[in-house]
Amino acid sequence: MTARPTVIAIFGVTGDLARRKLIPSLFSNFIKGRLPKRLRIVGVGRREWTDETLIDHAHQSLKNYAAAIYDERAWERFRETLSYSKVNLPQPETYQTLRDDLNALDGGECNRLYYLSIAPEFYADVICNLGALDMARENGGWRRIVIEKPFGYDLSTAQSLNGIAHSVFNESQVYRIDHYLGKETAQNILFMRFANTIFEPIWNRSHISNVQVTVAETVDVGTRAGYYDSSGVMRDMMQNHLLQLLSLIAMEPPSAFDADALRNEKVKVLQAARPIKLADTVRGQYQGYRAAEGVAPDSSTPTYAALKLFIDNWRWKDIPFYLRSGKAIGQKTTQVNIQFKRPPNSIFELTESGDYSRNMLSICIQPDEGIHLTIEAKIPDQLIAKSVDMELHYKNAFIADNLPDAYERLILDAINGDAQLFIRSDEIESAWKIVDPVIEGWRSDPAAPPMQRYQVGSWGPEAADELLARDEHVWRVSCLHEKAGCNGDS
Ligand code: BG6
Repeated sequence: MTARPTVIAIFGVTGDLARRKLIPSLFSNFIKGRLPKRLRIVGVGRREWTDETLIDHAHQSLKNYAAAIYDERAWERFRETLSYSKVNLPQPETYQTLRDDLNALDGGECNRLYYLSIAPEFYADVICNLGALDMARENGGWRRIVIEKPFGYDLSTAQSLNGIAHSVFNESQVYRIDHYLGKETAQNILFMRFANTIFEPIWNRSHISNVQVTVAETVDVGTRAGYYDSSGVMRDMMQNHLLQLLSLIAMEPPSAFDADALRNEKVKVLQAARPIKLADTVRGQYQGYRAAEGVAPDSSTPTYAALKLFIDNWRWKDIPFYLRSGKAIGQKTTQVNIQFKRPPNSIFELTESGDYSRNMLSICIQPDEGIHLTIEAKIPDQLIAKSVDMELHYKNAFIADNLPDAYERLILDAINGDAQLFIRSDEIESAWKIVDPVIEGWRSDPAAPPMQRYQVGSWGPEAADELLARDEHVWRVSCLHEKAGCNGDS
């Protein structure tokens, strides 16, 4: 028996994400022969496009964003899979053509992935309209829905969106995206921890002094002010990407490498987070942000946040996790730095700084993906120690000049029904429970730390350094291209 055809319906196909990521990722998977043999990609949008417009659009997208892998013969086959369907997202009656088109394929006997790459205010409409036209029922094939971030604006809107999603789809049909989970190096955190024996015995409060997660971006708000100014860094980055990285670092070993086992452990980490004290937070706004087009002249939206968080469980009790993220920072880097405790006793002369540095394991998520381990070594011809780096670079170890884009993995997983790298409803809600009080405190508590202005191209506000200095720690950075910055304190 031939397999059922699979239809991928991309809502918002005319948008930026589809152009930059989704179409190139589908094409890359197509070239690699990983997509179902019988495939239809239906672009869904509000514009008066035809199939030909979509094909031209997809072609241009590949020329611009997938030039390195573009192949004319593959394109000739890929374009055959494409068609366009016009839908006005809030209006249920406009879904009928889409439904009829999809039903016409193999008499409706096909699998369907609905991909919502649209403005979040339309998520509920689309879900309800799919439900109203009975398009979520798994008659004659599976039905799945992929929902982009942001999933909710706070806990209550996330709960309400979960409620709407569950009124139409089962949780097992819902795939909430956090593209950081699709990054190779983020996935490797689990392999590093659970495919080796040397890390797990020391992966706890007895040996680790503190954990730092840095997500620094050089880009500023750019043309996204309309969205960004009402969100800010806590909603845009902290609630999702940073807390997801944190949960991969801090989770207990799952009993199996499957979606439920993994997500059960991740959600336990988030649920064990101690409420964050406002005094343990720093918020910043880069200079010039308020002058950007679309930003309110008196905007109090933070473009930078740093905070200290504790996980109240046996493994991590009282070990600080420092998280920071900002836009318009001098270096683009995403890294997790795990600092170990210093040796309890010294038989050597100490370093010039008067103590050993802490051993540090750095997981370099991007760019220059890799793992670095900083150890103390004897300086030749002297009797003092110096910190040196043992470095794994993906580009050398795996001859991987171009790691697959996160979306390539995630789209494929959704098609294959593997939800490991997608966020479950309870995870989303637990993450909002962590960040909501901070956002609210910053908004309304007179005792909240004031907004700090920071220079474009800096490492963010000095108050973030002071946050760690209070605990006698410093932000550490590794994994940077410029050697001058390597392992130095930022
Ligand atoms: C997105 C945020 O989720 O992640 C953006 O909305 C941010 O503001 C982006 O720039 C960062 O992703 P990456 O993959 O470039 O680190």
